[in-house]
Amino acid sequence: MVMTMDVKLMVVVLLLLLCSAVALQKCDEDDEAALLAMSDALGKPPYHSYDVGCDQDSGRVVSLSVFQDANLTGAIPDAIANLTHLRTLVLRHLPNLSGAIPDSLAALTGLSQLTISWTAVSGPVPSFLAGLTSLTLLDLSFNSLTGVIPASLGALANLSAINLSRNRLAGAIPAGLFANLQQQEAYLRLSHNNLSGSVPADLAEVRLAVVDVSRNALSGDATAVLARAKYVDLSRNGFSFNMSGVVLAEEAYYVDVSHNGIRGGIPAQVANLTGLRTFNVSYNRLCGAIPNMASSSFDAFCFHHNKCLCGAPLPTPCPP
Ligand SMILES: *[C@@H]1O[C@H](CO)[C@@H](O)[C@H](O)[C@H]1NC(C)=O
Ligand SMILES: *[C@@H]1O[C@H](CO)[C@@H](O)[C@H](O)[C@H]1NC(C)=O
Ligand SMILES: *[C@@H]1O[C@H](CO)[C@@H](O)[C@H](O)[C@H]1NC(C)=O
Ligand SMILES: *[C@@H]1O[C@H](CO)[C@@H](O)[C@H](O)[C@H]1NC(C)=O
Ligand SMILES: *[C@@H]1O[C@H](CO)[C@@H](O)[C@H](O)[C@H]1NC(C)=O
Ligand SMILES: *[C@@H]1O[C@H](CO)[C@@H](O)[C@H](O)[C@H]1NC(C)=O
Ligand SMILES: *[C@@H]1O[C@H](CO)[C@@H](O)[C@H](O)[C@H]1NC(C)=O
Ligand SMILES: *[C@@H]1O[C@H](CO)[C@@H](O)[C@H](O)[C@H]1NC(C)=O
Ligand SMILES: *[C@@H]1O[C@H](CO)[C@@H](O)[C@H](O)[C@H]1NC(C)=O
Repeated sequence: MVMTMDVKLMVVVLLLLLCSAVALQKCDEDDEAALLAMSDALGKPPYHSYDVGCDQDSGRVVSLSVFQDANLTGAIPDAIANLTHLRTLVLRHLPNLSGAIPDSLAALTGLSQLTISWTAVSGPVPSFLAGLTSLTLLDLSFNSLTGVIPASLGALANLSAINLSRNRLAGAIPAGLFANLQQQEAYLRLSHNNLSGSVPADLAEVRLAVVDVSRNALSGDATAVLARAKYVDLSRNGFSFNMSGVVLAEEAYYVDVSHNGIRGGIPAQVANLTGLRTFNVSYNRLCGAIPNMASSSFDAFCFHHNKCLCGAPLPTPCPP
């Protein structure tokens, strides 16, 4: 009997605790109005496509994710500008989200992470993004963006990850990207666009974790980034330079330069890179002996279709 009372009491206490926890999580009223307006504008997506985070003290909405909803149709609503405390905004896998990135986003000056990915959003990469001074990550990959990469992005002191892959961007990669970055490593992904010109040599002054510029129309000399980045994908461009003198980064683990016009030989130092997992120089104009790579994970397909490479793993023996 006494036990049952205790259990009942505990249930009541637990319920009370739960209720107060829910009450504490209530978000700011103005922010909720803005969320509702956005939801209306987007055709009221179901709750499971949303993730809203409010600051525990102020109640202000600090993060908003909307994802994986093909029913969600229309442009990014201007009501988003009222979520003035947003730090993280993620709009991902929304194939019927369309229109340009709206000017109203310029009001969200506290944004640290902006992701608009796998949508039908089109138009330019707006230069007003350079006004979002707290940005650390900008991921606008897998959209239909056109125009050029704004050089002004380079001014952002904390922006260490830029992903503009899989769009229809043209023009050159601007000089000065990551120029104001202090200690952080930089991540640059620009693959599958229509970028032309050369890779700015000043990128070599940055601590490069990742550079992926594959499948563009880039040309010229890219030895500076090839020597600097730990993960570097230059494949399927029109690069033409002499690889003989390149010294790869000690920590290099992924190097793909296939399908270019690279000449000279494979630097002997490559054999010393113990962390190297991918090394693909196929479809270039390289010559000479392949260094004796320690790992057996480099098959002939990593070296074939060159001018006169020889030795294992290619079937062509080197001349004595
Ligand atoms: C956004 O804020 C403006 C100005 O404070 C206000 O007039 C407007 O009603 C707000 N819109 C929404 C959807 O909350
Ligand atoms: C999209 O709409 C269809 C039909 O109204 C519905 O069956 C489906 O569950 C919706 N999908 C999502 C992700 O809401
Ligand atoms: C979403 O877009 C797809 C094509 O990408 C289309 O087939 C589908 O009908 C659209 N859905 C809505 C709800 O508009
Ligand atoms: C950049 O990051 C540092 C360290 O997190 C921070 O102190 C600084 O306020 C940030 N700068 C801007 C403009 O957000
Ligand atoms: C874009 O690149 C950033 C930085 O490398 C990464 O965090 C993000 O996951 C990438 N986005 C996609 C859709 O792969
Ligand atoms: C790529 O850009 C070049 C000019 O640099 C242009 O002639 C070509 O049509 C563009 N290709 C695509 C697929 O947009
Ligand atoms: C590449 O550079 C090396 C010197 O670093 C030179 O010996 C060689 O002839 C050059 N090869 C080509 C094809 O330009
Ligand atoms: C490779 O490493 C060995 C042993 O550490 C060293 O003697 C040699 O000079 C290195 N070769 C190159 C090309 O870096
Ligand atoms: C290297 O690139 C070639 C050509 O694109 C491809 O056939 C091969 O599978 C690649 N090898 C590796 C290990 O990525």
